[in-house]
Amino acid sequence: MKQTDNLQKLTIAMPKGRIFEEAVGFLQEAGLQITSDLAESRKLIIPVPETNLQFILAKPTDVATYVEYGVADVGVVGKDVLLEEERDVYELLDLQIGYCRMMVAGLPGWKPTESPRVASKYPKIASRYFREQGQQVEVIKLNGSVELAPIIGLADRIVDIVSTGQTLRENGLIELEHICEITTRLIANRASYRMKSEAVDDIAQKFLQVIPRNQK
Ligand code: PRP
Repeated sequence: MKQTDNLQKLTIAMPKGRIFEEAVGFLQEAGLQITSDLAESRKLIIPVPETNLQFILAKPTDVATYVEYGVADVGVVGKDVLLEEERDVYELLDLQIGYCRMMVAGLPGWKPTESPRVASKYPKIASRYFREQGQQVEVIKLNGSVELAPIIGLADRIVDIVSTGQTLRENGLIELEHICEITTRLIANRASYRMKSEAVDDIAQKFLQVIPRNQK
């Protein structure tokens, strides 16, 4: 096993929620000593002194913020968050886990209206997409359960991530337009990338060993 004693101490931001379990599995496969029972714990900072690592468990949408401000050196985060938050961080690796797609969805038989409204947890991604399409829409920011919006008449379409498609199906919605594919990424703080390059490289190298095994 490679000696990690001499490496600088690294703080890794991990996203709680949807991609947490898969991300923890990935880190374990990469040989990082992070335990699977983290999800049940309420602890938000988990030091692993043997490996000179410390994990912080953050809201997925906040991971890139912690990394940009340097309180975490690296982070594991969905591309959806990176596209929405536009944080100033280095995107080092596509971990090829957490596959899903960013979609426009709505009710079947949806027809354009004069003042179209789109609900989304991703207002920037939604606004950018419709602007690129040359369509004027009002984007309404929601914080979750976005599928409610077209059913209850708040908006005529939504922009959201779709994984299994179950949430859309169970709410009678269909995928209308594909915006982009989403996967989980390894990001780094710009200063940490320079000042702690050995430790950051060590993590990236360990992750690189796991990526081919996960390829679809
Ligand atoms: C996400 C997303 C969809 C759902 C898609 O929500 O916003 O609602 O998962 O997954 P599926 O295609 O497998 O059904 P999340 O579970 O993060 O909860 P939220 O709606 O409260 O944000």
